[in-house]
Amino acid sequence: MIDGSPPTDGDDASRPSVTIVIPTYREAPNLPHLLRRIGVVRERLTHRIDVIVVDDDSDDGTVETIERLGLPWVQLVVRKSDRGLSAAVLEGFRRARGDVLVCMDADLSHPPERLSAMLDELAAGADFVLGSRYVEGGTTADDWGPLRWINSRVATWLARPFTAVSDPMSGYFALQRGRFAAAAPLSPIGYKIGLELIVKCRCRKVVEVPIHFADRRYGHSKLTLHQQLLYLRHLRRLFVHKFGVWSHLAQFLVVGGLGTGVNLLALTALLALSVPAQLAVAGAIVIAMLFNFVLNRRISFSYARHGSWPRQLAGFVAACSLGAAINFATTMLVNASYTALPMQVAALLGIAAGTGVNFMVSRYLVFRAVHVRPATDIPPTESPAAGSEPASDGSPRA
Ligand code: GDD
Ligand code: MN
Repeated sequence: MIDGSPPTDGDDASRPSVTIVIPTYREAPNLPHLLRRIGVVRERLTHRIDVIVVDDDSDDGTVETIERLGLPWVQLVVRKSDRGLSAAVLEGFRRARGDVLVCMDADLSHPPERLSAMLDELAAGADFVLGSRYVEGGTTADDWGPLRWINSRVATWLARPFTAVSDPMSGYFALQRGRFAAAAPLSPIGYKIGLELIVKCRCRKVVEVPIHFADRRYGHSKLTLHQQLLYLRHLRRLFVHKFGVWSHLAQFLVVGGLGTGVNLLALTALLALSVPAQLAVAGAIVIAMLFNFVLNRRISFSYARHGSWPRQLAGFVAACSLGAAINFATTMLVNASYTALPMQVAALLGIAAGTGVNFMVSRYLVFRAVHVRPATDIPPTESPAAGSEPASDGSPRA
């Protein structure tokens, strides 16, 4: 069935229904094997199971393959715009009619036979169930090179602020449709749609079911370096979503730390060039301030990066000067009031006060949130708006 109404095959409506969404790009050779295995699972389980294959116009015989198989419980959706794995999965989920939504790769890496255990966990009260390689009992194919292994581990570690599960990168997962429908606005970017849903659907009880992650049999992976860079952007978005203004502060502090390094490097270089000391100190401050401005505008307060930069630069320099003045005044005041305290402690308090004021002025006056672009956040119930960040989904062919 192509782009038709959701398949029904007259089963008893009281059985819980499950829609498996399979995103595909050039997976035609894998589909007959995968659908045969899902067919066997379908026969065994009491659930009513249907499948939506969401293909990004692979043009590799996927359409013909699905037509030839003629399975009434399989629906094919061919997308021609807004390509990308995450967007494909979300499109499938929006179309799905099952009580339970499942996402599974097409390349036979994710064993459909583990579905039963995953559905049991959902029925037992889990908010989100992951097919996991790293939980006890889970395995990966032996011929994973060390590079892919390290890569996967680092990516997992970076997701730690959001979830403690051992395999948050997994693309094999299940959740109730109601939970998906209640998700916060989704920003599907890159490959990690599972992580996005764990965070945005506020899933507290995330349960991992061990799987054997097999190597793909046909075709090749679409996980490129580009996708990995998108993952870093995705993490930053999740960070801002979860920690709000604290995430801006954290980024501001990291930039400030880097800026201190830039200041010292510039000072060293200028002194080495025999620039007079006063001029070198002033020059290093200006260089560091410009560095901080660029990074804060681009990273810490990136929502305001479309604002007028000369106005923002003037405001930022003013904020830094105000911060420096408050730093100086606080240090002197503390030192005068608590003479027993070492000067260094007074200076630290001064730095904290100055940085705090600098941050508040930067955040709420200089980089005001007037340029937030809601178009990048796509509510789960709508189709992606034209004008949402173009290649943000990281189509592998982009
Ligand atoms: N519709 C659509 N559009 N599907 C896509 C696209 C796309 O742009 N890119 C990839 N897919 C499909 C593939 O056809 C496959 O079914 C699935 O998404 C996973 O893609 P792979 O290319 O096989 O990715 P992988 O094996 O490197 O990554 C898998 O494992 C990772 C953990 O190692 C995925 O499950 C990732 O989600 C997971 O993080
Ligand atoms: Mn794969």
